[in-house]
Amino acid sequence: MMTMTIRHAALAACLLAALTSMSARAQDDALYRQFGEKEGLVRIVDDMYASVTVDPRTAPYFENAPIGRIKTKLVEQFCVLLDGPCVYTGRPMRRSHEGQNIDRAAFNALVEDLQAAMDKNGVPFHAQNKLLAKLAPMYRDVQDRE
Ligand code: HEM
Repeated sequence: MMTMTIRHAALAACLLAALTSMSARAQDDALYRQFGEKEGLVRIVDDMYASVTVDPRTAPYFENAPIGRIKTKLVEQFCVLLDGPCVYTGRPMRRSHEGQNIDRAAFNALVEDLQAAMDKNGVPFHAQNKLLAKLAPMYRDVQDRE
């Protein structure tokens, strides 16, 4: 009788641990799913770059830039920031942006173009804000001047 009780308790503990880890996992990538996973991020980054490369506030920065590479690395980076199953294989932010004379106005313009791309692709407002909150402190690394 005693053994059965212990066995039951152990089984219940295992089940609880499994359920907790399942729900933690579901919780973890919820944000990534709200962006439409990998395909959603590819669409958002495509739309964002269709804008930043013609937006007069940002276009000059991208004249000779490797757009295809930046888009691939940005999808990876967003995926990581959203707790998706990705690895960022690009260069550190400071290294990729130093010497480009990026200022607050250019940074804000790029963020606005990203917001428009997220709107267009139906990302819920609170999920958009979560990504923007993670990007905001990166200004420190991409700026050359205030
Ligand atoms: C939080 C904001 C930003 C993020 C997360 C970001 C992210 C990235 C990433 C992932 C790359 C590719 C790195 C690699 O090649 O390995 C990149 C490159 C680049 N970014 Fe940004 N970026 C940001 C802001 C900006 C802004 C505001 C501008 C200009 C308006 C800009 C212009 C560029 C350019 C021109 C390159 C290509 C550099 C080169 O390889 O020649 N970025 N960025």
